[in-house]
Formats: sequence, C-alpha cells, structure tokens
Amino acid sequence: MALTDEYGRPLRDLRVSVTDRCNFRCTYCMPKEIFNREWEFLARDSLLSFEEITRIVGLFSRLGVTKLRITGGEPMMRRGIVDLVSRLARIQEIDDIAMTTNGSLLERHAANLAVAGLDRVSVSLDSLDNATFMAMNDAGFSVDRVLEGIDAAAAAALTPIKINMVVQRGVNDGDVLAVAEYFRDTGHIVRFIEYMDVGHTNGWRLNDVVPAAEIVDIVASAHEIEPLEAQYPGEVARRWGYIDGSGEFGVISSVSQPFCGSCVRARISAEGMLYTCLFATSGIDLRRPLRDGSSDEELMSLISKVWEKRNDRYSEIRSEAIVNLPKVEMSYIGG
Ligand code: GTP
Ligand code: 5AD
Ligand code: SF4
Ligand code: SF4
Repeated sequence: MALTDEYGRPLRDLRVSVTDRCNFRCTYCMPKEIFNREWEFLARDSLLSFEEITRIVGLFSRLGVTKLRITGGEPMMRRGIVDLVSRLARIQEIDDIAMTTNGSLLERHAANLAVAGLDRVSVSLDSLDNATFMAMNDAGFSVDRVLEGIDAAAAAALTPIKINMVVQRGVNDGDVLAVAEYFRDTGHIVRFIEYMDVGHTNGWRLNDVVPAAEIVDIVASAHEIEPLEAQYPGEVARRWGYIDGSGEFGVISSVSQPFCGSCVRARISAEGMLYTCLFATSGIDLRRPLRDGSSDEELMSLISKVWEKRNDRYSEIRSEAIVNLPKVEMSYIGG
C-alpha cells in the first residue's frame, strides 16, 4: 500500500541538501552579520558521505519518491558533486533530478553535471540590475556571471531552466517586469517567489512580501497573459502563459496562497536530518541509524513511521505566534 501522511499526502519529492555553505550572502537568506566567521557551519565529518546519501535516496525511492532535487547552501560548493550526481542518477525509480543553484559555478560544472545525469537546474537570480543584484547577494557577484552560468546550463541541455526570483518589497519589486521580459522567448521559466519567513535570521516582516497577485498584475500591465494548468499535481508554482506564445512564468505564493494541501515533499539536511516541512522546528536523525549498522528495512520502517505521522501545514496556519518559533535556516534545509 502506498505510504501517505495524516492528510493522505504521498511521499513523492525528496530534496537533499549537500552543504550548508554558500559563496553568496543573500540578505534574505544568509545575512553577513550573522553568517560570518563566527557562524558554525557543519563540520566535514558530520556531512553525509556520498555512499550514505545514495543509500538513503535509494530507500526513499523504494517508498515512492520519483523526483529528487539537490540543494544547499550552494550545492556546487560540495567537493565531488559531479560524482554524487552520477551515483544518484543510477537509482532506477528516480526519473527527475534537478538542482537549485545560484549559478555562479555553473559555467565550470554544467557540462559535467549533465553528463553525470543531472536533468535540469533552477537558478536563483533576484535582479538584472547589477547594483541591486550585488546588494542582494552581498558577495560581489555580478549579474553577468549568473547569466553566463545560465547559458552554460542551456548549452548542456539542463532544461527546462527555471529562474527563481525572490521578490522583496522596496528591494527588487521594481525589477519584476524587466526579469519577466528578459527571459520571455528564451525557453527559460521565471518563477517569482514570495519572500518567506524561513529561519529566523533574515528579520522577515509581512510588509516585505509582495503578494503573487500583485506580481501577476505587474506582468499583466505590459503583456496579455492567461493562467495555465499545473504541469503535475501539487506543483508549487502557479503558471501563467503569454498569449502570443512567447513562453510562461510562474508565481510561488507560499505566503498569500499556501499550498500545503498537496505537499508531497520531504527534506534532508547535509548532516542527515529528515524534515517533513520547510518550516520544521525539529527533524529526525537519519545519520545515526545510517552509521550504526541499521538495515535497509529498519531505515525504511523509521522513515515510513515519520511520514505516516506527518501533519505539517505551516504556511496555512502561519501566525504571529509561530513566526517566532526556532525554525531551521534556509541555507541548512535547502529551500
Ligand atoms: P519544479 O520541480 O521545477 O516545479 O520545482 P519545485 O517547485 O518543486 O522546487 P523549487 O525548489 O524550484 O521551488 C522554488 C521555491 O519555492 C523554493 O526555493 C522555495 O522557496 C519554494 N518552495 C518549494 N517547495 C516549497 C514548500 O514545500 N513549501 C513552501 N512554503 N515553499 C516551497
Ligand atoms: N523566501 C523565499 N525564497 C527564499 N529563498 C531563500 N530564502 C528565501 C526566503 N526567505 C530561495 C532562493 C532560492 C531558493 C533556494 O530559495 O532564492 O531560489
Ligand atoms: Fe546562497 Fe541561495 Fe541562500 Fe543566496 S539564497 S545565500 S545563493 S543559499
Ligand atoms: Fe509543505 Fe510545509 Fe511548505 Fe506547507 S509549509 S507546503 S507543509 S513544506
């Protein structure tokens, strides 16, 4: 019988963070004042090894997972990432392997990742205006560097490429239309993401969120668009198409219109903690059983029990009281 949680949601989508490190310091994710020399990143030996990651993904695939996303931090900061992808690509039941990246190392790795078996990438890009972008990544990376990475991914057929833009009021909301227009007709799909209250270091306030409806209006003010059907049940983004056939974009409205009802995602941190929600306050340690000689059956039984008891729906019940709970950081859980 298929594994389902308390609300009948199956386990389909697994997101594995391979490092909590990143070469960017996006102000909404890893603000420099906090992620500085004093911040304790995970120690090397606390990270799951490639053997451990491959084994655990294999077990998840036997429990119903068909879709895998590799996240970070910045996943390309993990040494040997190409080797890891080639191991994961050999798991039969997984039919889609994607990676979320900031694009800065794509030029170097895109071709090898594609050969290793990566299917596609989602590249974060918050503005096409260099001053705005550099202020947001706060680590000296230019727009051009990311655009070159996107071109390398396209050349390696890591497609369809999604361009993720987190929209923050008063920061980059003025760049929405330019980003939409730049990628129209390229085959790449821009997805505007509502700024979320992940973690507790970014000082999130509801006033900083630009609701998806407003983002859609900005694009609609310049182009005729129409809503498109979801590409698969439970798709996170709501799709919109340009009626002249020049492509599509999407909005991810986790704050204004949550989508927990169809959430089939599990997340694993780089040190092997299993989380059943992006906003979880605690996880289940998989590294210990992985390292203490537990059998595949024991591990699968542990994961099944966790999923069967799952009742997360954070975005639907977000309130002042729980916004302040000690949630894990985005750079740790991977987005
Ligand atoms: P596709 O398979 O390409 O459709 O990607 P996806 O939508 O499954 O994943 P992606 O990582 O591209 O999602 C983009 C962003 O949406 C993430 O970085 C998060 O900010 C947000 N997001 C994704 N999944 C969830 C979720 O389960 N809950 C919430 N609240 N936000 C999510
Ligand atoms: N709200 C929304 N999206 C975020 N991301 C990181 N932090 C946040 C946040 N607070 C996005 C990144 C990237 C993906 C991993 O998640 O920009 O696209
Ligand atoms: Fe790094 Fe992505 Fe976080 Fe920016 S949003 S600091 S690129 S992990
Ligand atoms: Fe899934 Fe949690 Fe996001 Fe809701 S808030 S969609 S339960 S990860």
